[in-house]
Amino acid sequence: MGGSHTLAEGITPMQFGHFDDEAREYVITTPHTPYPWINYLGSQEFFGLISHTAGGYSFYRDAKMRRLTRYRYNNIPVDDGGRYFSINDGGDVWSPSFRPYKKDLDRFETRHGMGYTRITGERGGLEASVLFFVPVDINAEIHQVTLTNLSDAPKSVDLFSFVEFCLWNAEDDQTNYQRNLSIGEVEVEDGAIYHKTEYRERRNHYAMYAVNSPIAGFDTDRDSYLGYGNGFHEAAVPHAGTSEDSVASGWYPIASHHLEADLAPGESRQYTFVLGYLENADDDKWESPGVINKAPARELLARFDDNAKTDAEFARLNEYWDNLLGSYTVSSTDEKLDRMVNIWNQYQCMVTYNMSRSASYFETGMGRGMGFRDSSQDLLGFVHLVPERARERIIDIASTQFEDGSAYHQYQPLTKRGNHALGSGFNDDPLWLILGVAAYIKETGDFAILDEMVPFDNDESLAQPLMEHLKRSFNHPLEKAGPHGLPLIGRADWNDCLNLNCFSSTPGESFQTTENQAGGVAESVFIAGMFAAIGPDYVALARRRGDDAEADRAEKAIADMKQAVVDHGWDGEWFLRAYDFYGNKVGSHENAEGQIWIEPQGFCIMGGIGVDDGKAITALDSCRERLNTPHGMVLQNPAYTSYQIELGEVSTYPPGYKENGGIFCHNNPWVIIAETVVGRAEHAWEYYKQITPAYREEISEVHRLEPYVYAQMIAGKDASRHGEAKNSWLTGTASWNFVTVSQYLLGVRPDYDGLIVDPCIGAEVTDFTVRRQVRGAEYVITVKNSGGKGATLTVDGVDVEGNTVPYAPAGSTVQVVASV
Ligand code: GLC
Ligand code: GLC
Repeated sequence: MGGSHTLAEGITPMQFGHFDDEAREYVITTPHTPYPWINYLGSQEFFGLISHTAGGYSFYRDAKMRRLTRYRYNNIPVDDGGRYFSINDGGDVWSPSFRPYKKDLDRFETRHGMGYTRITGERGGLEASVLFFVPVDINAEIHQVTLTNLSDAPKSVDLFSFVEFCLWNAEDDQTNYQRNLSIGEVEVEDGAIYHKTEYRERRNHYAMYAVNSPIAGFDTDRDSYLGYGNGFHEAAVPHAGTSEDSVASGWYPIASHHLEADLAPGESRQYTFVLGYLENADDDKWESPGVINKAPARELLARFDDNAKTDAEFARLNEYWDNLLGSYTVSSTDEKLDRMVNIWNQYQCMVTYNMSRSASYFETGMGRGMGFRDSSQDLLGFVHLVPERARERIIDIASTQFEDGSAYHQYQPLTKRGNHALGSGFNDDPLWLILGVAAYIKETGDFAILDEMVPFDNDESLAQPLMEHLKRSFNHPLEKAGPHGLPLIGRADWNDCLNLNCFSSTPGESFQTTENQAGGVAESVFIAGMFAAIGPDYVALARRRGDDAEADRAEKAIADMKQAVVDHGWDGEWFLRAYDFYGNKVGSHENAEGQIWIEPQGFCIMGGIGVDDGKAITALDSCRERLNTPHGMVLQNPAYTSYQIELGEVSTYPPGYKENGGIFCHNNPWVIIAETVVGRAEHAWEYYKQITPAYREEISEVHRLEPYVYAQMIAGKDASRHGEAKNSWLTGTASWNFVTVSQYLLGVRPDYDGLIVDPCIGAEVTDFTVRRQVRGAEYVITVKNSGGKGATLTVDGVDVEGNTVPYAPAGSTVQVVASV
C-alpha cells in the first residue's frame, strides 16, 4: 500500500521526520534537512515565514511594501537570519533552533502545525521550547518560550531574544543604502523596543518587540549586539552574557532582550514575546514631540501580559483550524490519502490564497503581486474554507479586468491595483475568472454576486455587473481568434514560458513583456480546451438568469470551438499545443523536440473533446507513454536542447527543469481529472500518488523539499537531478490537487443544485467516508469502492437516479451511500 515510488538503484529510503496526524503536525527530528523546511504563520493580515531552524521573516499584508523583519535570500549559509533565541548556560551558548550557533543538541524537534511552529532543543540538561504563532485577528507574532531545567542541579540561565528590522520596503531595504543607513530609529520604553523608522514623515505605523517579564538589558543596534564583523553565530552579547543597552541611530536597528532565569531542578519558566505591527491615525501619531503614540501597543501587550492569555490565544487558533478543516474530511484505508486531504493539502490551499505567489523561500516577496490567473485558480482550493473571503477576492480580481475582457496579469495586494510594468495580454487570463466565480456560486448558492457592480481597470465610473465581466471573459477568446478559429495566445497562456510572439535576443529582458512581433497568427489549443471546459459554466449561469438567447449563443460558440480543435488541434495521437508566429505547429510529431505537451491533453479532455470518439483515450495513452515517469508527468517531451527564439522562455531552461520538460505539478492534476473523465480509476490514482508529497516522504533524500506540501516543480527525466523538487508551497498545484482528489478521485463536488457524488479512485482505496459541509448542511457519504466509475446512490436510504444529491436545508445531515 502507499508508496508508488521505485527507488532508483543505490537510493535508500530516507526521512527527516514524520507526520503526527492527531496533532496535524509534521515533526522534523533533525536540523539537517536538505533545504530549509518551512511553515507559514498568520491567516489574515500579519504573516510570517518560518523554517525548521527559526529562519525567515514577518510582514504585514504585503511582503514587499510592509516588511517587518529582514531576510537575505540566497544567503550563505542558506537561511541565516530569523527569530533567534540564544541561551547562555554557564558559558555554553546555544539555541534551541540549532541555528545560528549550530551547537549539537541532545534533542531537536520542530513541529510545523496549522499556523504555528514549535521548536524544541535540549542541551546540557536544559530544554528550551519556542512556540511561534500569529493569533487570529491580531497583528502580531507570538514567541512563547519555555525553559525547563531537566538536570538535578539548579541553573542560572541567560536568555537573549533577537530580531532584525527591515526598513519596511523590502526591496529598497536591500538596495538603497545611501539613504537607509542613516534613517533607522527606535525607542525603548519599559523593556519594549519600538521600531519607528520613517514614522517621523509619511508612515503612520511602527513595529514593536516586547516580552511580558522584567528584562536585565536590551539591544537595538546590530553592531553592538553582534560585535562588528561577527556573524549571527558569533553574536557578542549572548557570549558575554550581558546586553549593551544600545540605542540604534541609523545603521541597522534590531531588537534583543536579555532575561535572567534561575531554575531549580525540574522547574520551568515561560515568557511571551510579542512582535507587533501597530498603526495610528495621522492626527494621533505622537504622544509628545518625537515620542510615538504607544497606546495601541500597550493594548496589544495587555493581551499577552499573562502566559495563560497566550495559551488561550493559541487555543483560539487551533479552534479556527478545527472549524476550517471540518468542511471536507475523508476517512479511508490509506492514511497518506487522509492526511493530505484532511490536513496538508487544504492548509496549503489557504496559504496560497493568502500569499498568491509572493513570499516563499523561492519567491522574495518583492517581485510578484497577485496573479489574475493564479488567484482565480487558487479560489478553487479555498472557496469551501472561507467563502466570504472568496467573494471579496473575486471582486478584487475582477476589478483589474479591462473593458475588452483582458486583464492586468498581476495586482499588488496592498493597493489592489493592476501592475503596469507587467500589463496585460496573457490570453488565458479572462477564462479563469469564470471558473473561479462558478466555483464560488456552486459552493454558496450566492447567485447575487453576479449583480454586484464591479469596476473595470479599477475605475468605478466603468463599473458593470459581475455577469458582464464574465461575458467579456467568455467573448475574449472569440474576439481574439486566429486563422484556425483557435484563440490567439498573446504574450503567453497558462504556460508563461511559451512566448510565441516575443522573439527575444536581448539578455535579461522579460520574455513575457517583450512583444516585438504583433502577429495575429499564434494560436493556443490549450485556451481552446479551457474554453470547452470552462465555457459551459458561463452557459449555465446565463441560463439560470433566464437569458436563454445568450446561453444558446454561448453553447454554439463552444461547439464551434470544439470542432476547431478536432479539425486543427489534433495531431493524430494527441492534441497539438499551438501554432506559432509563422503558423507552424507546436507540439506535433512533426517537430524534432517538444512533440507532445501535457496541458492541452488535460484541458481538452476536461472539456469533453474526443471523449466519445476515442481521441481522449489515445491522447491519455500517449501521455502515459511519452510523459509519465515515477515522479510525475513531464510538461513536454522531448525537452528542448537549445534556445528556440520563436518559442521563447520555455527553451531557455536546461532540459528537465521548469517548463522545459520538468514535472510541473500544477498540470498533472488536469491529466488525472481527464483519466477520471474516461473512467480509468487506476491510472488516476497512480498519477495522484506520484506527485503527492506524503507518498514521496520516504524518498525525501531525492525529493529534498517538504514532504507535507506540493512543490511547483520536480526535475524531469531529462535532468540529472530527476525527482528533485523546487519551489515548494506557493503554486497552483495546491488548489488543483485538492480539486482533483476531493472532487474527482473521492468524487464529491458541489454543483449548482446539489452535491455530485461521482468517485473514481483506485481499488486499493476500498471503502471510505467523506463528510462534506456545504450551504449549512452536512453530507455523510459512504463509498464502497471497487475502482470503477459510475456510482449508484442511495440518499437517506432511498435509491436515486443519477449522481446528484439535491441540497438539503441548512442544519440537516444527509446520509449518502455510493457503490462503484
Ligand atoms: C507559474 C505561474 C503560473 C503559470 C505557471 C506556468 O506557476 O505562477 O501563473 O501558469 O508558472 O508557467
Ligand atoms: C518566469 C519563470 C517561469 C514562471 C513564470 C511565472 O517566467 O521563469 O518559470 O513560470 O515566471 O510567471
